[in-house]
Amino acid sequence: MTHGTIAAKLISNLISGKENRYAELFKPSRFNAKSDAKNFTIKNADVAKEFVKGKLDRRDKKMEDLQSDEGAVVNFDGKRAGGFKDSAGKASLVDTTCTHMGCELNWNNGERSWDCPCHGSRFDPDGKVLEGPATKPLKKLS
Ligand code: FES
Repeated sequence: MTHGTIAAKLISNLISGKENRYAELFKPSRFNAKSDAKNFTIKNADVAKEFVKGKLDRRDKKMEDLQSDEGAVVNFDGKRAGGFKDSAGKASLVDTTCTHMGCELNWNNGERSWDCPCHGSRFDPDGKVLEGPATKPLKKLS
């Protein structure tokens, strides 16, 4: 929505010959292959690092170790899983593999959500998508 408004303003300024302070920022030729390729490589190296780090992350904590109103990565049948116990003691266990591209999620205690370090998807304790790019919920394990 914002970019549509900016585009309309830029186009009307270009047609009428007025200066627009955002013209350089949105200029189609702003792509710099050398520096943009470097940034692209760095960002994707971070994603790859988080992907591998998550796959190697194993925890000793078990579901029964969780306190009331606590979430954590737990060991479930020797596999990494996401456990949460609400304040009433209801437990949920989800697969911590992000449904976007497979990175491993981490528990965000402040937001009470499963967060993906790769592209920022977020899921509620039961695995429902809160924010994309993921569109599918997490697989429930119990
Ligand atoms: S892999 Fe999780 S958001 Fe992309």
